[in-house]
Amino acid sequence: MAILSILQFPDARLHTVAKPVAHVDDRIRTLTADMLQTMYAAQGIGLAASQVDVHERVIVIDVSEERDQPMVLINPELVWTSPTTHLNEEGCLSVPGIYDGVTRFDAVHCQAMDADGHSRVIKAEGLLAVCIQHEMDHLLGKVFVEYLSPLKRNRIKTKMLKAQREGAR
Ligand code: NI
Repeated sequence: MAILSILQFPDARLHTVAKPVAHVDDRIRTLTADMLQTMYAAQGIGLAASQVDVHERVIVIDVSEERDQPMVLINPELVWTSPTTHLNEEGCLSVPGIYDGVTRFDAVHCQAMDADGHSRVIKAEGLLAVCIQHEMDHLLGKVFVEYLSPLKRNRIKTKMLKAQREGAR
């Protein structure tokens, strides 16, 4: 396994639309194992392949307290969304240190394959539902800060670029 490097907003590659996975094979299983290791090392609760510059529809998630319930979602599709939404504070490993409110469905049903290529429907609510929606946005090339006002987004962009310049010194 390997820890992968996570693209940082406003890297343009984060806006790439991911393609469906054609075959769940050893290459994909290595990718998901590396993504899980990367997510745990960064203390995140979710990671999309887009964030590690692999533009295929793959997500890993673990919202458990004990960090021992890894989930792999390949080619995820929402098959049901609740009629109700709520505003939730979100963060992202690609936008470290930034937290802001995004409106999401309260609950979703998500059809996806696991690392064995078996398809199933995940019925999610609460944090898991938010996380699935956040990560699926990444696969469409969308970072959560794009829901915020242009003014806020530009402030975040400036802050991130400054931090990246200072980090590169
Ligand atoms: Ni994210």
